[in-house]
Amino acid sequence: MKAEFDLVLRDAIVMTPNGREAIDIGIRGERIAGLGSLAEESSEKTLRLPGLTVLPGVIDSHVHFREPGFIHKEDIETGTQAAVLGGVTTVLEMPNTSPPTTSAGDLQDKLARAHGRAYTDHAFFVGATVDNIEELFKLEQLRGCAGVKVFMGSSTGSLLVEDDATLERVLMATQRRVVVHAEHEPRLKARKRKAESMGHPRAHPEWRDWETALTATKRLLAIASKTGRCVHVLHVSTAEELEVLSRHRDLATVEVTPQHLTLRAPECYEKHGTFAQMNPPLRDGKHGDALWKAVREGVVDVIGSDHAPHTIDEKKRPYPSSPSGIPGVQTLVPLMLDHVNAGRLTLERFVDLTSAGPARVFGISGKGRIAVGYDADLTIVDMNKKQRIEQNWLASRCGWSPFEGKIVQGWPRVTIVRGRVVMRDNQIHVPIGRSARFCGTL
Ligand code: DOR
Ligand code: ZN
Repeated sequence: MKAEFDLVLRDAIVMTPNGREAIDIGIRGERIAGLGSLAEESSEKTLRLPGLTVLPGVIDSHVHFREPGFIHKEDIETGTQAAVLGGVTTVLEMPNTSPPTTSAGDLQDKLARAHGRAYTDHAFFVGATVDNIEELFKLEQLRGCAGVKVFMGSSTGSLLVEDDATLERVLMATQRRVVVHAEHEPRLKARKRKAESMGHPRAHPEWRDWETALTATKRLLAIASKTGRCVHVLHVSTAEELEVLSRHRDLATVEVTPQHLTLRAPECYEKHGTFAQMNPPLRDGKHGDALWKAVREGVVDVIGSDHAPHTIDEKKRPYPSSPSGIPGVQTLVPLMLDHVNAGRLTLERFVDLTSAGPARVFGISGKGRIAVGYDADLTIVDMNKKQRIEQNWLASRCGWSPFEGKIVQGWPRVTIVRGRVVMRDNQIHVPIGRSARFCGTL
């Protein structure tokens, strides 16, 4: 007779919607099929996990995997390898590739490229441009579409929606979540000279200053209010934006990144130079403290890595011709668990920000919690393990991280995607990733 479960996980602490529980997890096929005290003979296989903690699979809703067009920086295979080594089970990928993901064909191409090569489940954002607004409604319904991305300020790539009228049309043309890079393009253009004349990345937060971010975020909120459409504000980086966003929780959800929470200007620019250059910039302690306050007070919905790899040679170009972006999909979990161990947030809050939060914001079906009937996506961590982040552990093709050499406490040990072990103790297995499903689409 066939056993009730294919796999049972035992002896771990499990983070369920009830809190921390010392229970077994029974997996049948791709789903969680039983929770509680499960009989020995109920399963074909057993994985004993003493001393470990099982979290719902971590969803990184902000990665740039560069394929097609820039595969010398990263591709879907190396990017998702980095993801599973870092305990991430699902990624939502950004459209500023070459070509940018702006049509059904572009989306289909990315899904085809991911097939048989992706280690995580995945979906792809479609980029909004002045030219594809009429098609957005159709595009966002397609399988494998995560939502719609808008760049209000120029960053890596050519995607840009600069004016309020076009932004309003984008919001009116769509139903799914619109995610926004909020930097005010006219102010960026007007202040670029600052960066050029200083010629050092410590100018980056002065060029792309708090007002550049705040102006765009306020414009965005005004249009969200006018259209009645909720938006998701990516990589929020300033105290001023958080103050405004905290008064508009009915209009906007909020993402912050581990690097904005962890690194501080000016030290990061002295230590890492252009390797700490990203958009919007890493800023000083006043803003960092405000980000942590917003994490604790529930203003932040999601932690996304904004994994944005560029090669070492590219980053070594003299500022500001050096590209902006920092890799992070592999270091999100270790860095944030280290913050948990340091008492800056609870493990419950971490789960809320990296599983439940993204599932809620993007309407991802069957993911984001450990519950019967949900996908068996699990991030299994050792909260006590102290480990140095080493270059030879990093799988990203870019080959570097600003966190190299940092010792953290808290480390991913096993990554399970829909019931299959895809990483165990730094060994990665088969690329069984599939497109994630979303409520309201086929
Ligand atoms: O620093 C950044 N890098 N910010 C972005 O908005 C884009 C990203 C990239 O793709 O390199
Ligand atoms: Zn990004």
